[in-house]
Amino acid sequence: MMSKIKGVVLAGGLGTRLRPLTSITNKHLLPVYNKPMIYYPLEMLVEAGITDIMIVTGGTSAGDFLRLIGNGEEFGLSRINYAYQKREGGIAEALGLAREFVDDDRVVVILGDNILQNGIKKGVEAFLKQQGGGRIFLKRVDNPQEYGIAEVEGDKIKRIVEKPRNPPSDLAVIGIYMYPPDVFEVIGTLEPSARGELEITDVNNAYIQRGAMEYEIIDGWWLDVGESHEALLRANLTVARQEGVEV
Ligand code: DAU
Repeated sequence: MMSKIKGVVLAGGLGTRLRPLTSITNKHLLPVYNKPMIYYPLEMLVEAGITDIMIVTGGTSAGDFLRLIGNGEEFGLSRINYAYQKREGGIAEALGLAREFVDDDRVVVILGDNILQNGIKKGVEAFLKQQGGGRIFLKRVDNPQEYGIAEVEGDKIKRIVEKPRNPPSDLAVIGIYMYPPDVFEVIGTLEPSARGELEITDVNNAYIQRGAMEYEIIDGWWLDVGESHEALLRANLTVARQEGVEV
């Protein structure tokens, strides 16, 4: 039997970089071509065979997710689980809210503003074949100061630095993370960073230090849609063109 795996979409945070678009609604409800942003990570999970899903949201528009997505019928699901993050305490804090939902299973985490051209099916299959440990995904970028950046040596990752001033490489850690169930113990040991958040990069570095993190460099485009107004516009154009629209 395939080992059990759960999916968590993180859609909290205040989306301050996209104001005023996010002044009265949640970033992940904004349109990317013909669908709200949150549809893309949900579709990527379902396409990879993951149907046990929790959405973690926050802020003032949380009820809109329920109205929009309901029990997930549109995605072929019969139910979706929801959790509410009270403040913008970081990606790792948001994931921590899924502890009881994930329980003793493995978990695939997707940031609600990340879209991959080729989805995550192959990555999930590779993760399920791993003996243990976590799995992250890298992509070369032109602006490494904006991301978690990995320093790699052969098939090993040495460390990840969050938004480095002097990037050790141009390999960004994208917003898809795969973990064994002990990730919640790791989160329990974290201290808030200088920006007051529990950092997913600290979680990843904990696995790297134990020699328990695998990586792959992804094919196809990757969009971090929530990064800026330009990134949101680019995402709309990229997805529309993928659908054959001339824009
Ligand atoms: O997109 C990839 C990057 O995402 C990684 O390279 C970085 O290592 C990682 O820290 C993250 O950086 P960002 O600065 O882009 O993260 P941001 O604060 O924009 O949050 C990304 C998503 O995570 C957001 O769409 C919703 C969710 N989130 C974030 C925070 C801070 C939450 O659910 N709760 C939160 O408190």
